[in-house]
Amino acid sequence: MAKYSKVLRRPVSITGGNAQTSRFSLRFRRCARVVDTSMDAPAISTENLTRRFGGLLAVDRINLRVTPGQFFGFLGPNGAGKSTTIKMLTGLLAPSSGRIEILGRDLVADPVDVKRQIGVVPEGMALFGRLTGAEYLNFVGRMYGLDRATAAQRTSELLEFMQLADQPKALVTDYSHGMQKKLALAAAVIHGPRILFLDEPFEGVDALASGTLKAMLQRMIARGATIFLTSHVLEIVERLCSHVAIIHRGQLVAQGSLEELRAGVQAQTAVAAGNGASSQLPAAAPGEKLTLEEIFLRIVGGSRIADQELSWLG
Ligand SMILES: Nc1ncnc2c1ncn2[C@@H]1O[C@H](COP(=O)(O)OP(=O)(O)O)[C@@H](O)[C@H]1O
Ligand SMILES: [Mg+2]
Repeated sequence: MAKYSKVLRRPVSITGGNAQTSRFSLRFRRCARVVDTSMDAPAISTENLTRRFGGLLAVDRINLRVTPGQFFGFLGPNGAGKSTTIKMLTGLLAPSSGRIEILGRDLVADPVDVKRQIGVVPEGMALFGRLTGAEYLNFVGRMYGLDRATAAQRTSELLEFMQLADQPKALVTDYSHGMQKKLALAAAVIHGPRILFLDEPFEGVDALASGTLKAMLQRMIARGATIFLTSHVLEIVERLCSHVAIIHRGQLVAQGSLEELRAGVQAQTAVAAGNGASSQLPAAAPGEKLTLEEIFLRIVGGSRIADQELSWLG
């Protein structure tokens, strides 16, 4: 019987029916799976990932590639398809078509194995409001298979780090929005995930909490984790992320390092200016470094709302 080995990238023959051979091949395949995920597989890879809602094509055949260890920003205007994509990448929403591989494993074929290795703060956070912060973190830790002592230890360390330890009796439902965000992030990292997915982690968070979140994310990156976050706060993405992708009306319109995007946009602007094409956006001066906001506006093709006039506002 010929089987395909992802490690060897060619068919391997698993022959014979005796028990010894079967035990060997089972061990080989288990071992092969471990090797496969830790080698050079991308952290996240999608192939023509698509999601429809009735007649609406919310995500349209996107091919994402995120390398392990990258701090990756997924940007796009409101309604572009960011949350839909992150839900599909974390197994919270089924794709209409296309493939997703996380750390070299097919998400549909291996959902539990994949979910063990990732953490997610989805759009609505999905916390349990009737528990205290400590109860919630302990619960999540135990669900990820941590033993009682480890779950308790990490819970108290995380509550301390996130400055959530002051009101041990408060229920999650009574937490402020920013406190809930910090708790959701603590829950997403309690099992030490290799990839962290965050949907708008800084939205509704004050400067102090935002500093705490950033410190935690940078610490994770320093330890080799991969982070995939969506945000519309471009200054934060510019400061934190090494790589970005831009989605617009469901389609991926750019992907690469910040430097690659900047160089691409600058070259395109120069060509357009050379052809006498007019742009709503001023051309970059030679040597001027475009900000991520300028890159974003040029790629997505918008003009600042502030520049538009609402005559009735007076
Ligand atoms: N459950 C749903 N049912 C119908 N339409 C949806 C649903 N979720 C998202 N959409 C639509 O899909 C598009 C992309 O939404 P979303 O991924 O939330 O955008 P973003 O996170 O980039 O703001 C939007 O037009 C939105 O209205
Ligand atoms: Mg969203």
